Amino acid sequence: MVPEKIREEVQKLRDEIEYHNYRYYVLSSPVISDEEYDKLMKRLIELEEKYPELKTPDSPTQRVGESHVEGFETVEHVEPMLSLDNTYNEMDIRNFHERVKKGVGQVSYVAELKIDGVSIALRYKDGMLVQAITRGDGLRGDDVTVNVKTIRSVPLKLTEPIDLEVRGEIFMPVSFFEQFNAQREEEGLPTFANPRNATAGTLHLLDPVVVSQRKLDSFIYYIVKPQQYGLKTQWEALKFLENMRFKVNPHSKLCESVDEVIAYWKEWTQKRKELEYWIDGVVVKVNDFEKQNELGMTAKSPRWAIAFKFPAQQVRTKVLNVAYQVGRTGVITPVAEFEPVELEGTIIKRASLHNFDYVAEKDIRIGDYVLIEKAGGIIPQVSYVVTELRDGDEVPIEPPEKCPVCGRPVGKQSGEYVAYECQNPFCQAKLKRQLEVFVSRQALNIQGVGPKLISKLVDAGFVKDIADIFYLNVFMLSQINGVGPKMISNLLSEIENAKNTSLDRLIIGLGIHGVGEKTAKVLAKKYTTIDELSSARIDDLMQIEGIGEEVANSIVSYFNSDKAREIIEKLKQAGVKAESTVKEEKNVLSGLTFCVTGTLKHFSREEIKNYIESLGGHFTDNLTKKTNYLIVGDNPGSKLDKAIKFGVTTINEEEFLRMIKEKGA
Ligand code: IVH
Repeated sequence: MVPEKIREEVQKLRDEIEYHNYRYYVLSSPVISDEEYDKLMKRLIELEEKYPELKTPDSPTQRVGESHVEGFETVEHVEPMLSLDNTYNEMDIRNFHERVKKGVGQVSYVAELKIDGVSIALRYKDGMLVQAITRGDGLRGDDVTVNVKTIRSVPLKLTEPIDLEVRGEIFMPVSFFEQFNAQREEEGLPTFANPRNATAGTLHLLDPVVVSQRKLDSFIYYIVKPQQYGLKTQWEALKFLENMRFKVNPHSKLCESVDEVIAYWKEWTQKRKELEYWIDGVVVKVNDFEKQNELGMTAKSPRWAIAFKFPAQQVRTKVLNVAYQVGRTGVITPVAEFEPVELEGTIIKRASLHNFDYVAEKDIRIGDYVLIEKAGGIIPQVSYVVTELRDGDEVPIEPPEKCPVCGRPVGKQSGEYVAYECQNPFCQAKLKRQLEVFVSRQALNIQGVGPKLISKLVDAGFVKDIADIFYLNVFMLSQINGVGPKMISNLLSEIENAKNTSLDRLIIGLGIHGVGEKTAKVLAKKYTTIDELSSARIDDLMQIEGIGEEVANSIVSYFNSDKAREIIEKLKQAGVKAESTVKEEKNVLSGLTFCVTGTLKHFSREEIKNYIESLGGHFTDNLTKKTNYLIVGDNPGSKLDKAIKFGVTTINEEEFLRMIKEKGA
């Protein structure tokens, strides 16, 4: 039996924590310090550990409730999720206004920002979040509750114990999106065309832990059957949603005239760049619910609302062809080639089509007239296909069956979407990209070897794999057009110097799928030689902080290939020494991951980090299940609770020092 006092304390803690979540993630105005917040969380975890019967799905400790799900069930919407008609200019919006007036007389409008995200329906029962469903086909969507729960601005519990369904938008903040795409590029993965696609992909991931790291956010703007709650207008509904602690966009405006609506649209056409999220227009809604009902809807969209899109600077051009670019891991990216046109000061000749799901979704064909614009103001992108101008000779863009460079078969890889990859380990396109990575600043740092020289060396047949760089000689280099004696001597000395590299640089240079700079560093800490790494098993690798199943698999299958064995042997023969930056004799903490909470007596955070790393250990700021030890100092924070929850061993500073001594350092 749980004492009543404990029950009450748990409830109070949950309410407090969710309130502070709300202050932080919804209002962006926290009223307590991080330490105070951590203390509350720590106490709650402690009590839930002690009295597991008190654990409930709506507890703030359960936002990341599971580490893996099998898939998503399809769920029917109680009321269809409609889309909106689009307009692009003042005249259209005035026409909309006239139609509304004709139907229901004079009205006021609510003008809202049109968030470029993924629409979501959230169901609450007795005030508790029970289900989150994507739009799907409008009638049925996917139940993505486990993933949506990780979004901190989505309340798990309302301020009233009511049944409610609300709808809104999930989005990925622009700053995170940019960093995320850059990282994918580094790892040889296909990039996302825009934050909306990245959001949609994220919501369908099977690992809520990964979802929780993607910084998704929400805005809620719609209530199903609002009149049940005594609400008469959209404006009241927005206030009601705010009171229920939803994150409601702060820029909505009550407009008494169509002129005000137009002014709002003009204002945001300019100001949209200042926002942390993408918007693609303004949504104009008749404020009064009764009048909304009177206006009703057409087959697919309401007559009481309209999307008033922003004009993007667009130009029309023709798709002349599609080129297939082969990345270093073999991923094939379709690139549209246009009749060159000028757009905002630059001549545009091509634009990435990102991946084949994107091509299919937009139905872009060779020979199509398309409108192009600069997404986010920078990246040229196809925004619209002018299907009206088709004459029937257009050719659909299909994934190639054969690699455009080597002619060998292309295979399918399922990830966040289907990627097509050249399967030939010897493909020259892959080889060229791999060599670019191999000589890059982060890897072997061989200066003077750029993409052009690489291309010539490969075409001449002097370089058949990355190791061949170390077998180049004066004779070979002198055969290459544009390479003179001075350059040859510089190149050969650069190549000679690169033989003394570090293990992490060599690992980056190998270009293993999913292994970028960060992972390479982690691996070089755990393993001291490339041979050691090459015999690691999947289980060993997965024990390492920051390495998941997919990357572990990719590393093992890389080293299992004959080609990899050959390359490593050739590198050794050439005299390449890739020393682990961590010296072996001092490696007493090798394979162990540490995390620290609270204040330590003998070390600052930076000092203990350096110390652990100098002993071959791994230091992390974020505690996870893979962390081996949490070193607990004075005034520990929420990591202590997490450690208890995850079953991570906790030690104090003295115990840590003793452990090192016992290990002989
Ligand atoms: S109202 C019937 N308000 O735009 C009411 N939609 O094509 C329809 N959207 O699917 C939705 N911001 O995903 C509404 N402030 C906003 C919105 C918004 C973005 C999206 C929504 C919808 C699409 C309309």
